[in-house]
Amino acid sequence: MIAPIWGRVAGVTTSSDAPFGTGSRPAQWWRTAVVYQVYPRSFADSDGDGVGDLPGITAHLDHLERLGVDVLWLSPVYRSPMDDNGYDISDYQDIDPLFGTLADLDALITGCHAHGIRLVMDLVVNHTSDEHPWFVESRDPTSPKRDWYWWRPPRPGHEPGTEGAEPTNWESIFSGSAWQLDEASGEYYLHLFSTKQPDLNWENPQVRQAVYAMMRWWVDRGVDGFRMDVIDLISRDPALPDGPVPPGGRFGSPHEAVANGPRLEEFLTEMNREVGLGAGHLLTVGEMPGVTIELARRVTDPRRHELDMVFSFAHVDLDVRPGGPKWDIVPLPLPRLKRTLADWQEGLADVGWNSLYWNNHDQPRAVTRFGDDSPEHRVASAKTLGTVLHLHRGTPYVYQGEELGMTNAPFGSIAEYRDIESIRYHEQALLSGALPDAVMAALALKGRDNARTPMQWDAGPHAGFTTGTPWLPVNPNHVEVNAEAARADPSSVFNHYRALIALRHDHPLVVDGRFELLLPDHPQLWVVVREGAIGRLVVLANCSSQPVTAAAGDLPDLAGATVLLATHPGREGLELLPWESRVYEVG
Ligand code: GLC
Repeated sequence: MIAPIWGRVAGVTTSSDAPFGTGSRPAQWWRTAVVYQVYPRSFADSDGDGVGDLPGITAHLDHLERLGVDVLWLSPVYRSPMDDNGYDISDYQDIDPLFGTLADLDALITGCHAHGIRLVMDLVVNHTSDEHPWFVESRDPTSPKRDWYWWRPPRPGHEPGTEGAEPTNWESIFSGSAWQLDEASGEYYLHLFSTKQPDLNWENPQVRQAVYAMMRWWVDRGVDGFRMDVIDLISRDPALPDGPVPPGGRFGSPHEAVANGPRLEEFLTEMNREVGLGAGHLLTVGEMPGVTIELARRVTDPRRHELDMVFSFAHVDLDVRPGGPKWDIVPLPLPRLKRTLADWQEGLADVGWNSLYWNNHDQPRAVTRFGDDSPEHRVASAKTLGTVLHLHRGTPYVYQGEELGMTNAPFGSIAEYRDIESIRYHEQALLSGALPDAVMAALALKGRDNARTPMQWDAGPHAGFTTGTPWLPVNPNHVEVNAEAARADPSSVFNHYRALIALRHDHPLVVDGRFELLLPDHPQLWVVVREGAIGRLVVLANCSSQPVTAAAGDLPDLAGATVLLATHPGREGLELLPWESRVYEVG
């Protein structure tokens, strides 16, 4: 077997042989890595205030090491008024007291490194909080910081504050106008997200230099990379043109004007150079809601020195009516999902690199959305979804609790939601005449709080997440679905994920094998081949809650193949139970 470039495999260079922070790590070490995302508010509470914190994470690093992940991506812990749970930052170089202190962060970095795990910080620089000193200063029209944000007068001929006076017709991603009037100056500022998240003006070189200086400060502190929040929005069409208004709508979409703008790659190259992101030991992943395969190829081409990988939204937007908001949900046939992931595999086969994910803090739980979270099929479908994803080519991301098969939350009323996006959508949708039941049904499927309920550590009170009152209710199924039970059960989702992660570390074909999708139109089977000079892997998965029999003639010859991993060990033959899957190694 070919040794991976960099990994935990016995006999191969490991993190303990080559300490973190040295330049001795091979380039592109992240190709063999698996990333685990921690949403700190919901991970583990060490002080009983009902909100997760940094010492809570440090105390649970054994869980991550046991799972075998290589990198921890930490959602924001910076000082913040928490309008968007920390994605509204008022001080990039301090920790919010809710989560702890800088000393706690240093302890987390040290703890991660001692467990052989790298720490990647969330970088939220499309916008700041309106309480960031930069924005506070920029409220003064004569301030040198005025140009650090997008301040504009009302539309010509309109009185400030009247309907239609906003400088453009853009809708905020969190509903309502994307412009907020500042009474004092009579001008509006742009906020693509909440009114408390004013957009930074990346056209201004001082803004960019301030961001790079802050990033260097974190690198010097010992972090191992950045996950860049909505980074494809930082360059805009400077003319700020109105967007198309859907029939009957009041606002237009800013997408054309703000996504993948003309200077995006120039800014990314500059950031890479100024921060030294290409030094080899750092990982960069850009969240890019509007990215195309063509752009991803360019941005992740190592010769261009931009980013290591991006988060595409192609597969998580498939259940949305084209052009509609995320709440306009349509059924998702399996062939569309398979084809979309395969298009990205093929598109980035010769250049660049994919990231692979089913869910995160913004998306519903994978097993509810793409699998079957009924008691009968939850475990098998969570395992099979994991198998299919991890056997694609790219760096897999596991979102906290995914490794337990955690499900969407059974929220009853809007009063139980905490997420600004969900609350704003509910409010605006009812105002525009939507039926309350339909709005609640959309929230139950797509609301972000589904993924934000506390991590389920054990069967005890509040799932062992806190001794206080959790900020968001714990899912009642924690009595069965929890880390303690999962770690002890050899047939759990957790142990299946552990095996998947080990397979990536051990098997070069998982990392680099050429990808091929078979039976693209089959409505139940997901069949993937990964091939290289040393052989091939075949993934045979039933992604449905009904049994299915594969036709031998449709599959590669599996005679003499070894099963490396299976949801139902010991079963053979071409009949697959609901959500049964196997990974074969052929010759
Ligand atoms: C990203 C984050 C999301 C946040 C938004 C604004 O999409 O993942 O949680 O609300 O950006 O920062």
